[in-house]
Amino acid sequence: MAQDGNSGTELAAADSSDHGHGTELAVGTAVVATDAVPNPGFPPHRPRVTDLDPKKEKRAERTVYTLFYLSAAGSIWAIAAYMMFPIEPENLNSVRANNLFIGLGLALALLALGIGAVHWGKALMHDQEGIDMRHPTRGSESTRDRAVEVFAEANEESGFGRRSLIRNSLIGALIAFPLPAVVLFRGLAPEGPEANPVRLLEHTMWKKGDRLARDPSGVPIKAVDVTIGSVFHVIPEELANLGHSEGYLEEKAKAIVLLMRLKPEDLVEDEDKKDWSYDGIVAYSKVCTHVGCPVALYEQQTHHLLCPCHQSQFDVTNHCAVIFGPAARPLPQLPIAVDDEGYLVAQSDFLEPVGPSFWERH
Ligand code: FES
Repeated sequence: MAQDGNSGTELAAADSSDHGHGTELAVGTAVVATDAVPNPGFPPHRPRVTDLDPKKEKRAERTVYTLFYLSAAGSIWAIAAYMMFPIEPENLNSVRANNLFIGLGLALALLALGIGAVHWGKALMHDQEGIDMRHPTRGSESTRDRAVEVFAEANEESGFGRRSLIRNSLIGALIAFPLPAVVLFRGLAPEGPEANPVRLLEHTMWKKGDRLARDPSGVPIKAVDVTIGSVFHVIPEELANLGHSEGYLEEKAKAIVLLMRLKPEDLVEDEDKKDWSYDGIVAYSKVCTHVGCPVALYEQQTHHLLCPCHQSQFDVTNHCAVIFGPAARPLPQLPIAVDDEGYLVAQSDFLEPVGPSFWERH
């Protein structure tokens, strides 16, 4: 029995007929206990000041649309702050100012939008208590018609159609609110002549003759230092020449390598890749081909590399082929050799792109 009502009497009647209380107890063996605490029903309706005083109603309306305009202003301020307080490389103060002012703008936008909506509901929308009983999922035609009526009533009672200033300012605030996100996400995209992300990810800084060095010290590694079963985290020796403003972290993220030494007879190498290793020493990209986590767990006994993010496993004896997990392709191998002084060097860059394989790179 779904009836709106604002009196305790109506509620009590609805409760009684629906639950079998009073004189309508259920038949059979069921024992229906009466409620220990009677339903008190609705408290007497108390009109709000905005119901009684048109001036106060007008003031509440002004407050609501002012808040919505304030919200739009906050969103616009967040965009302006993004441009006025750019992040400068190696300047922590600029990061602080950028985050602070963008954050203030977004906070104002959200807060004003929320407070405006609550104030609108509490002070201006129709103030009527009601009961809405549960129904089967799909209502009858009459219920559906009633739903349309309810929408129309809600429109009428909330004043959404009638109070054009509130409605339009709300629409303006909602349109303005996502705009900072567009600008902020655009800022994540690479800029400049090399802005094509596919190109940027296609190559790393490895090139022929670059020494393999320990991460993070940058000390070059000799082949004799790599004992069977050991594993090294490796960067190009030349990475140390790059400053942070020159893309140190970006280059490191792409070029990072894991170096391991196995017994040469344990390696099962393709004919065309036989000279990519040196006396059982192999080097593979540390960037998981699933979604790019660092593959840093080496099981010395099984020669498996494990990615901790989603448990992809790679077989080091077999060109890091995927043996388990969601990664779709092997870890790219860095062809290596040894120079005149016994240091491990790259023969070239990776011959395929490193990292997640969801990019269509070719
Ligand atoms: S990122 Fe390595 S398994 Fe998902």
